[in-house]
Amino acid sequence: METVGGPRRQEAHRVEFLPDELAAEVPAGTTILDAARSAGVFIDTFCGGEGICGKCRAIVRKGTAEGGESPFLDAAEIKAGYVLACQARVVGPLTIEVPDEARVRGTVVSFDPADRAGVRNASTRSKPAALDPLVARVGLDVAPPSLEFNRADLERTKLALAKTAGDGQIEAGLEVIRRIPDAIRAGNHRVTVTLARHAGWREITDVVPGDAAGGLALAVDVGTTSVVASLLDLASGAKLGSASKYNSQAVYGPDVIHRILWTDNHPGGLRQLQEHIVDDVNALIGELTTRLRVGADRIDVAVAAGNTVMTHLLLAVKPAWIRRDPYIGGVYQPPSVRASDLGLAIAPAGLVYSLPCVSAYVGADITAGVLATGLAESEAPRMLVDLGTNGEIVIGNREWMMCASASAGPAFEGAGTRHGMRAMSGAVDHVTGRHGNAFDYTVIGDAPPAGLCGTAYIDLLAVLLDLGIIDKTGRFNAAKAGAGLRQGPDGLAEFVIVPAGERGATHDIVISQPDVENLLRAKGAVYAAVKMMLKSLGMAPADLGEIMVAGAFGSHLDMDKAVAIGLLPDIDRGKLRFAGNTSLAGAELCAVDRTCYEDTRRFADGMTYLELSTIPSFMEEFTSACFLPHTNLEEFPSAGRKSGGGR
Ligand code: FES
Repeated sequence: METVGGPRRQEAHRVEFLPDELAAEVPAGTTILDAARSAGVFIDTFCGGEGICGKCRAIVRKGTAEGGESPFLDAAEIKAGYVLACQARVVGPLTIEVPDEARVRGTVVSFDPADRAGVRNASTRSKPAALDPLVARVGLDVAPPSLEFNRADLERTKLALAKTAGDGQIEAGLEVIRRIPDAIRAGNHRVTVTLARHAGWREITDVVPGDAAGGLALAVDVGTTSVVASLLDLASGAKLGSASKYNSQAVYGPDVIHRILWTDNHPGGLRQLQEHIVDDVNALIGELTTRLRVGADRIDVAVAAGNTVMTHLLLAVKPAWIRRDPYIGGVYQPPSVRASDLGLAIAPAGLVYSLPCVSAYVGADITAGVLATGLAESEAPRMLVDLGTNGEIVIGNREWMMCASASAGPAFEGAGTRHGMRAMSGAVDHVTGRHGNAFDYTVIGDAPPAGLCGTAYIDLLAVLLDLGIIDKTGRFNAAKAGAGLRQGPDGLAEFVIVPAGERGATHDIVISQPDVENLLRAKGAVYAAVKMMLKSLGMAPADLGEIMVAGAFGSHLDMDKAVAIGLLPDIDRGKLRFAGNTSLAGAELCAVDRTCYEDTRRFADGMTYLELSTIPSFMEEFTSACFLPHTNLEEFPSAGRKSGGGR
């Protein structure tokens, strides 16, 4: 077990965690956060345990912990036993409650029968994908041998394959070759072979007697925050179901930089993180196969799309050099690998195809997104903004593509803000207005409000700006704010959005002055990146045929409010569109159509990467974009119209 600073005393103590009723025996001096990891309890840690995010809140119910007080906890919370799990240490037996807002939740399964229509027509590509999978099961009649036709079993199998699946180089590994003779005879010369595509050749990865059940594919969006998987029927292209869960690597850090640091600073850390992501994908495979009553051994192929660091972590390739000048990854276009080499619980000879990345900070989520949106097919230039901890942006058409990465930071994902949380049950996801002193808002799931997720923050900035409660610099206006404005535990202003007790909220949910500043920096980074890219292309926002916003962040995005705060350019709203999880959609397309997979490699090869930090005027643009909506209101005519006629 990892300990921070190492155990200070020899004796061990039992720490029990509620409400899971899981426990671990840990050496005295271990942090509660590490004790939770040992017990298999996952506590949110946006700062990776540095004590600077205030997310890892835990309540000491029995016993005494050492330390753990923080400016993130007010006097009432400290009195109630709240500590920061990454700072409080075990000095005796403890019972710890992990409150709802600090829990990294387990698996969430969604199953949409409408998806049965198939993934091939679900994207916005102009042409539907073909049904030509990367890995396919092929039923074969292998000609019986005779004294006249005395070719060996493998060669006769290849001849039958050439007739059914076309000419070309076909190879088989020794394990498969050993099984072919018995399979042919057991199936009375009828076999099912599994045929995988590699660049320029095909491989028989499996052979069974007779006609086997059809093969399945797994598509996975390997996100920094969430992992989403879907199961596809390779015979029809139908999507059978999908499931998602939080990336359990989050306990080692909220973003890719913290996770790289973990692999750098902890012996075995890379394997540890790789095992976490593989366990997450395996948990989703378990959910899907149980729900759909299919065997995991029918899954012949997995296609994964993730950012560059997540791709490295999935493959256990050292990501350390990605964060050091000149920011180079170990691999951007990985070959297919055996699922068994990664520990993925699909067919034993199954293959894993990782979609290609472009650079250290523009990953396969973008190449998959370009594929799914058909961005590379259109004549008019379009833009795709994938919002996450890093805002990845691509502009282009059928002739060219430019991409860039803006370090927006995790504010829109609920990090670095006082009551921010991920978009999960209990998160306020929309704030629509204010009546008297009460805000109108919606909460995800059937739960009391526990915090604010990214979409709520976008709404809030727009609503507070519209009401004059914050000005264009983001400063609170006491005269307009009224009783909701107060001094927070850090001595800085904060504004109450949901008072304790309202709809069962256990504590006041506030937005603080530093929260507003973090959010302005996040939206400023994205807008400035968009602006610099357009500028370097000699284009104006209106020249874009469409702006598509992708990512979990955008699932409930109010486009009007995103423009009102200056996150997205102020263009015809008909050109703004939420594109959903394009990373997953791209992986699904590649699983059913090998030419889509080849397309993503072409995109990665042909994209021009714009390094924003090398552009001298970027900082100036960023500073201007940190205002609401911007220092130059001419760029936001609809905001100008509103302030001119409204207040
Ligand atoms: Fe504990 Fe950030 S303050 S993880």
